[in-house]
Amino acid sequence: MAILVTGGAGFIGSHTCVELQQAGYDVVVYDNLSNASEKSLERVEAITGKPVKFYKGDILDRDRLNEVFEKEQLDSCIHFAGLKAVGESVQKPWEYYENNIAGTLTLVDVMRKHNCKNIIFSSSATVYGDPAEIPITENCPKGQCTNPYGWTKSMLEQILSDMQKADPEWNVVLLRYFNPIGAHPSGTMGENPNGIPNNLMPYITQVAVGKLPELGVFGNDYDTPDGTGVRDYIHVVDLAKGHVKALKKIEENAGLKIYNLGTGVGYSVLDIVKNFEEANGIKIPYSIKPRRAGDIAICYSDATKAKEELGWTAEYGIKEMCADSWRWQKNNPNGYSE
Ligand code: NAD
Ligand code: UFG
Repeated sequence: MAILVTGGAGFIGSHTCVELQQAGYDVVVYDNLSNASEKSLERVEAITGKPVKFYKGDILDRDRLNEVFEKEQLDSCIHFAGLKAVGESVQKPWEYYENNIAGTLTLVDVMRKHNCKNIIFSSSATVYGDPAEIPITENCPKGQCTNPYGWTKSMLEQILSDMQKADPEWNVVLLRYFNPIGAHPSGTMGENPNGIPNNLMPYITQVAVGKLPELGVFGNDYDTPDGTGVRDYIHVVDLAKGHVKALKKIEENAGLKIYNLGTGVGYSVLDIVKNFEEANGIKIPYSIKPRRAGDIAICYSDATKAKEELGWTAEYGIKEMCADSWRWQKNNPNGYSE
């Protein structure tokens, strides 16, 4: 039996393939490569020494999905495939709802027709909106999302929960990621954003490598210790390992489960700049810019539930996240393109 990994060629998916293979699972990757390169899978193979079975395909393509389920023995799916650019989702809401929601509905329909009713879904801390409590536990009520991308996550959580309630044969694990950064310590795999990065760490590494002149810090007048936004950054390898633990939970027939995957520690934008500079000996020039629309002041997790129920805790600290992000960028200034 193998694990279907949709979006497995992407940033978090490719790192998860490494951890799955190293834990003894067979993986089948399904990805339309709209935001990824197949090269990431060659790097997975180089690290693990095992082949990765890959099908190019879209989660909206029912026929292609059926073909994969007919050819492969699949008992669970880790579902990463989706569009994830917050700003773009405001410009193209229909495309986001179509891809993420219609795509997931198609995927789970094909899954149930092939009697594969185990799914781990990539959700996000964004479903908490402006969180009602800090640190954020899983009991914190979901909030108002500030963009269509966030709503797709919130709605898909609801859809998958309702399906599990109606048919208890389903096992559904919703993983709410905080801010994944870092890269595989080998320096051969990492985040590969298209164009100018929206997220903090890829922006910093592109400043460090000389592609961008300076970092803009979006606001220094938040109600935080230094005025800049505070987030719960988590090393992508830790995040990937969280999925292996979630699979074990599925194997116990756990029903519906929801977990935060974060470290439980918040760092400000300026903390990240300082830690990056110290970890790598590179100065990051920056200037203070206005606040970015839709940003909140503080967001970090209470990571207790994942520790108690999954036996999972983040192991890497901020220095390793900064060093590994930089090693990837320095060794691969153009990501996976030559
Ligand atoms: P990514 O863009 O690197 O990976 C997503 C993958 O899905 C890509 O390889 C892309 O080609 C593929 N894909 C997109 N639409 C598809 C479709 N219709 N059919 C088949 N493949 C499709 O992003 P990531 O950072 O690895 O994120 C993985 C998942 O985690 C996403 O669902 C994302 O929303 C979620 N998430 C990411 C973050 C983050 O900050 N990176 C935070 C919270 C949640
Ligand atoms: N920031 C800057 N300058 C930049 C980029 C970001 O100052 O050039 C700041 C932001 O204002 C924020 C912090 O750095 O305070 C982190 O911003 P990111 O864009 O890296 O991450 P967000 O917390 O805004 O959002 C990310 C993903 C969302 C996901 C969320 C929680 O983009 O999809 O983490 O998982 F929902």
